[in-house]
Amino acid sequence: MKQPQFPLKKLITWALYALIPLALFHLYFYPLPLQQNQKQQQQQQQHHHHKVLSTKGISRNCNYTDGRWVQDHRPTIYNGTSCGTIKDGQNCMAHGRPDTGYLHWRWQPRQCKLPRFNPLTFLNLIRNKHIAFVGDSLARNQLESLLCLLSSASPAELVYKNGEDNKFRRWSFSEYQVNVSVFWSPFLIKGVEKGSDYGLKNHNKLFVDVADEKWASELHGFDVIVFSVGHWFLHPAIYYEGGEENENVLGCHHCREENAFNHTEIGFFDVFRKAVRTSLHEVVRKGLNDQLVVLTTFSPAHFEGEWDKAGACPKTEPYKEGEKGMEYMDMEMRKIEVDEVERAKKEIEEKMMMKKKKVKIEALDVTRIAWLRGDGHPGPYMHAFPFANGVPERVQNDCVHWCLPGPIDAWNEILLQMVKRWRDQTGKR
Ligand SMILES: *[C@@H]1O[C@H](CO)[C@@H](O)[C@H](O)[C@H]1NC(C)=O
Ligand SMILES: *[C@@H]1O[C@H](CO)[C@@H](O)[C@H](O)[C@H]1NC(C)=O
Ligand SMILES: *[C@@H]1O[C@H](CO)[C@@H](O)[C@H](O)[C@H]1NC(C)=O
Ligand SMILES: *[C@@H]1O[C@H](CO)[C@@H](O)[C@H](O)[C@H]1NC(C)=O
Repeated sequence: MKQPQFPLKKLITWALYALIPLALFHLYFYPLPLQQNQKQQQQQQQHHHHKVLSTKGISRNCNYTDGRWVQDHRPTIYNGTSCGTIKDGQNCMAHGRPDTGYLHWRWQPRQCKLPRFNPLTFLNLIRNKHIAFVGDSLARNQLESLLCLLSSASPAELVYKNGEDNKFRRWSFSEYQVNVSVFWSPFLIKGVEKGSDYGLKNHNKLFVDVADEKWASELHGFDVIVFSVGHWFLHPAIYYEGGEENENVLGCHHCREENAFNHTEIGFFDVFRKAVRTSLHEVVRKGLNDQLVVLTTFSPAHFEGEWDKAGACPKTEPYKEGEKGMEYMDMEMRKIEVDEVERAKKEIEEKMMMKKKKVKIEALDVTRIAWLRGDGHPGPYMHAFPFANGVPERVQNDCVHWCLPGPIDAWNEILLQMVKRWRDQTGKR
């Protein structure tokens, strides 16, 4: 369990990186109440023989990651007032972000065309199905983008909410018998967050070989699962292996605090790999039905200066080709995820050979696509009208999450194509 060698500069960036979001975390979730004005759709007839939509014309082997952002002057599918499910901190339009250029780009893969998101196509593809977003606040960010895109065509009704800050929620598109839900699980594996009732004061407690039961126990109810994690692994933590009963300490990260100093610093990359492996293995092991499992790869942050000074992520347009290279950490996190998806695919081939129904696992490889969009974060507009009284000395910036509408809508455009391919394959059986 050796940490790869880093140049000193990387280590410093790395340490800073862990500090920046601490203050942001309490802002990560207060969800907005959803407009609950759509009860009339509840009594729906059961009339849904779904047709598998043709995927003719869509290149099967298109590499969606390989492409560029091009300008697109069409109006966005939804906006800060038309969608009721945008978390306050990401509603850049409503919070007075003055520039609008960041709204007018679309992702153009090199090998194929990526059609604009069509909500009715998506709803028809997942008719009678349940799509669950599982992970941290970026999973929630992607979920809210999808909800906004879909509810531009059909009303969403919040049918369930639970947990502190409504970390577990489910919406229903009753016309299509579609459920969309979100599960808070920032490590995917079993973790006890620091400062919580059972937790350590300064360290998260992670059990690297135990999948988080909050989602794992609900797995049988999911048709499509979208995992998205990463940022929480940068925080101080003590790692355990060998199941949750045997508290064998594997090592720790930021060991100097609390009583952790008697453990070995092992960084977080290897632990992140184990967490992803444990989680994908859980899905393969259970192999319940024709599930589609999508792992959205690491979404880079874009802090350029101090996180609480004006101009922490000041860009107003995407990076140009070759303008700035990706950070080592972003590349490494992505690589781990892509590798583990490949590994899980092999596991499926071996374990599920004889089964008719097969779990399908794919990476939604957005890291580079996201990296290019330093202009897409709320920055100071995580709060409403931050400069109403001039530029204050200190202003909080969110350079991690994405404005809605914004670049993250493109992740769901690609997700639609993945779902389409999956339906085409499972529909043939
Ligand atoms: C897809 O394109 C990206 C960016 O050019 C590249 O890094 C990646 O290896 C490609 N993936 C495959 C499966 O060829
Ligand atoms: C937002 O969308 C709604 C509905 O499409 C439209 O009436 C409204 O003018 C839009 N607002 C902005 C600021 O574009
Ligand atoms: C959606 O959720 C409702 C409960 O809110 C449940 O009765 C229904 O079976 C679910 N449908 C799917 C497709 O998961
Ligand atoms: C660290 O070592 C001390 C003394 O050896 C021990 O009392 C303490 O429980 C250890 N801390 C942890 C977290 O294991």
